[in-house]
Formats: sequence, structure tokens, C-alpha cells
Amino acid sequence: MTQDEQKRSAAEKAVSMLPRGEIIGVGTGSTVNHFISALEAIKHDIRGAVVTSQETEKRLRQLGIPIVSPAEAGRLSVYVDGADEINHSLQMIKGGGGALLAEKIVASIADTFICIADESKYVSKLGKFPLPVEVAPFARSVVAKALIRMGGTPQLRMGFTTESGHEILDTAGLDLSRPLTMEDNINQIAGVMDNGLFARRPADVLVLAGKKGVEIISIGTH
Ligand code: 5RP
Repeated sequence: MTQDEQKRSAAEKAVSMLPRGEIIGVGTGSTVNHFISALEAIKHDIRGAVVTSQETEKRLRQLGIPIVSPAEAGRLSVYVDGADEINHSLQMIKGGGGALLAEKIVASIADTFICIADESKYVSKLGKFPLPVEVAPFARSVVAKALIRMGGTPQLRMGFTTESGHEILDTAGLDLSRPLTMEDNINQIAGVMDNGLFARRPADVLVLAGKKGVEIISIGTH
């Protein structure tokens, strides 16, 4: 199976795990795009979706799935999203697609976070993928200096503005051996809107597709 076929397999498996007749949360990215395509088969059983980007919204609207705000939804039983890296505690780096702020908000109102991923994303140690840090443009250099003091090498994502009007500093070299502490420490820098570490709110279930098939991993599986 190619990487793209693995993404599709994980996405299709996640669709089979969804509750029926409910509002679900939907993330952003190429794996999620496969998920949305697979949703077509059960779209009449999806009451609505809380979305994390305009791209996801557009694709769900094409299927005729109603878009619901986080306020209208209240709580969600399930949120489905991809990841750039996910470790064995199901903590993640996200934000490669730049939607990390909305993703973190929607994840925070979900009872169950189902992460869908191909095997290249499953790592024993987070940090090969540069950590996306979303910043207010006015604070860019202040935040960059603070990240350098923390051991990182921030690089501005050129020509990119998030849907909330912020910038992203893709930050390599940080020691992410304590993801929860690092997530909190970065978020304490004035001007940081959020960062792509999902340690405070990790995934609950990982649907991981590899060359031999799809595996369901939850905390305690490994
Ligand atoms: C977007 C994300 C995505 O989930 C992450 O980048 C993975 O993307 P893909 O499924 O395309 O590999 O966090 O902000």
C-alpha cells in the first residue's frame, strides 16, 4: 500500500467507527479529505459537522452535511483528525496544514478524539517534524527570540496566513521529551496563539494504517 492508500484505509475504518445520527468534529488535511470522501456512504446518518477549516467545510457542504458552530454543538462525541506525528501515548504534533488553532478548539469539546494516520506518522519520540507555533504577526520576532532561547530554530512559514489571520513559526530542534510541559511553556509566551503539540488533549484512539492493514491503538495497547 502506498502512503496515500494507507491514509484512505485509516479514513475508511474511522467512518465505520462513527456514531450515527450525531454531530461530529472534522479536522483538516489530506487524510481527513479521504475521511470526508468515505463519509459520502453514510452522509444521511451524520446530523452535522463542526469544522476546522474552510477546505473541510467546502468538502462537507458538497456532500450536503450541515455545518454547525462549536457553540451550537456544545459537546461532540467524536472528533476525527490526522496528525503530523503521533507517539505511543497518542500525543501529537499537528498544524502541518496550518489549522492547529481550530483543531485544538474542536478537539477540546470532543469526548473521543480519533486520530487517523498512515504508519509514517507513528513515532516513538516527537520532534522530527518541526513544531508549528501560531503567532500574532505583531509578536513574530518576540516569540521567535523566546523559541530560540528554548533551544528551537523557528522559521516563518512564508506566504502563509492562518484563517484567523496569524502567522506560523515552524520550529525545529526543540526538546519534546516532555510534550505536556513544552506545550504549556510555549503557550505562555506572549503573542503565541497556540502550538501544534497536542499533549494536554491527546488522541484517545489511533486508527493506524500500515502495509499489512489497519490497526486500532488506544492507550494501553502498547
Ligand atoms: C492540519 C493538520 C493535519 O492533521 C496534519 O498536518 C496531517 O495532515 P495530512 O493528513 O495531510 O498528512 O494538523 O493542520
